Amino acid sequence: MRKGILTILLLLAMAGAVDAGYLTWEHYQVVNTLPCYYNPHLPALFSDCGKVLNSKYSMIFGIPLAAVGLIHYGLITLVILLAMLTGKKIFRYWIMVETTGGALASIYFVYLQLFVIHGFCQYCMFSALIGFILFFLAYFWLETERKALIIYIAGFIYQNFVKPIFFLIDPETIHIFMVQTGEFLGACPPCRWLIKQLLPINDLPLKQTVAGIEFANPIGLAAGFDYEAWLTQILPVIGFGFETIGTITNHPYDGNPPPLLGRLPKSKSLMVNKGFKSPGADKIIKKLGTKKFEIPIGISIGRTNGVKNMTQKQSVDDVIAAFKKFERSKIKNAYYELNISCPNLYGNISFYPLNNLQELLTAAGTLRLKKPVFVKMPIEKNDEEILAMLNVISKFKFVTGVVFGNLQKNRKDPALDKQEIKNFSVGNFSGKPTEKRSNELIKLAYKKYGKRFIIIGCGGVFSASDAYRKIKLGATLVQLITGMIYQGPTLIAQINLELIDLMKKDGYTQISQAIGRYTKI
Ligand SMILES: Cc1cc2nc3c(=O)[nH]c(=O)nc-3n(C[C@H](O)[C@H](O)[C@H](O)COP(=O)(O)O)c2cc1C
Repeated sequence: MRKGILTILLLLAMAGAVDAGYLTWEHYQVVNTLPCYYNPHLPALFSDCGKVLNSKYSMIFGIPLAAVGLIHYGLITLVILLAMLTGKKIFRYWIMVETTGGALASIYFVYLQLFVIHGFCQYCMFSALIGFILFFLAYFWLETERKALIIYIAGFIYQNFVKPIFFLIDPETIHIFMVQTGEFLGACPPCRWLIKQLLPINDLPLKQTVAGIEFANPIGLAAGFDYEAWLTQILPVIGFGFETIGTITNHPYDGNPPPLLGRLPKSKSLMVNKGFKSPGADKIIKKLGTKKFEIPIGISIGRTNGVKNMTQKQSVDDVIAAFKKFERSKIKNAYYELNISCPNLYGNISFYPLNNLQELLTAAGTLRLKKPVFVKMPIEKNDEEILAMLNVISKFKFVTGVVFGNLQKNRKDPALDKQEIKNFSVGNFSGKPTEKRSNELIKLAYKKYGKRFIIIGCGGVFSASDAYRKIKLGATLVQLITGMIYQGPTLIAQINLELIDLMKKDGYTQISQAIGRYTKI
């Protein structure tokens, strides 16, 4: 297929080179010989290509435009040949860039002929026509290369121009601005269509069916970013394979006293002190209504925060009440994430002690939940403690898997910059400071419970190789937030694009073949 496409592009480029070569040769003749130079039998506009070829616009920096065209088409011919002979991606990217440049230049030249010179050169029009055809064919046939270029350019613009401005503004304000913009774009079908043409890479090798749910790719949004379900319609078009909404609590909670969020750019981290800010289960269920979701939705459920003196028993009842509400709702294509690991909760309630965990899961087990359940795990516990928790969880058949993991509580983690952390007296930390421990725990859980649990890897994913490492350590799916904030929303499409290369390099034809293939971190 690729060879066939490239052969057609090659023939067109060669035709363009012959046309431009002829015009260049003609330019240097003493007597003009082109049949269209003056033809009284044709309508005025078409009878005088000499008007165009002798105009001041026919030279650029002292070089005939025809010669520039010859170089352009000659170069494309050469690059297409190299792409065919070597199969290297770089040449296909080059074709995409140069055909785009050629099409833009052609628009300008056609405009000049029709509206400035008021003359018409058939040979120049033929060249422009080839320029357009080359561009459209490359645009549709080299889809991956086109998307890759858009992704890299958009990522460059985000990191160098947009992020520096965003980072001057309060992080909570920017968060709200971004999710509301996302909600607006998601509700606008033409916007969704346009972004879909530009970004997502949902190649078949990335597809997996997990716990009966189809995931177009393994990259999802972690809990905490879309806690009011603003983004369910926009995330699929920027390339996410699934998303988590929440953490949602049974009752509403406005969040902890400020600051709720902070940035630690040197540590590639965020300070998080939201403490389950949530509009409550009823409001989210009403908002989601009977909406159809293009990607699976993870419903993250946790204990209502901010209620003073809530006992352990009341905490369990509160979580169970939220589950019951979601079970009664009509939400489809979804799974549950039971969040037992939020580090910012009010009071001294915890589901870490094994009997508390057992009590919560026993109560949840009585609900006979219809959707798969994943337990979101802490990362601050040591290996023995985690294995003991996994042992308890493994006894509950309704639990399909675990997510490793939540935020970093350890303020002495070496990935946290010592100066930066002094700016924050509250909160816990996302991003790179979570990555190492998350990877260690994925590896541990896969080794001991790989056959029992499906593992979702979460923490510090900033690139395709970060995501791929988690998969090779044992994760079936991967989630992120902080990477997207630092690298930009095009990171998701970029990760998927590059994941395909990474797995192909390792000789895998399906992403599922890479799961658990690492032995070292
Ligand atoms: C702003 C923010 C809010 C978060 N809120 C939640 C939450 O409500 N529930 C939850 O399970 N995890 C929450 N987390 C933790 C993330 O889901 C994730 O586990 C952690 O940030 C590590 O992933 P990352 O490095 O890709 O951000 C939050 C993280 C961030 C950055």
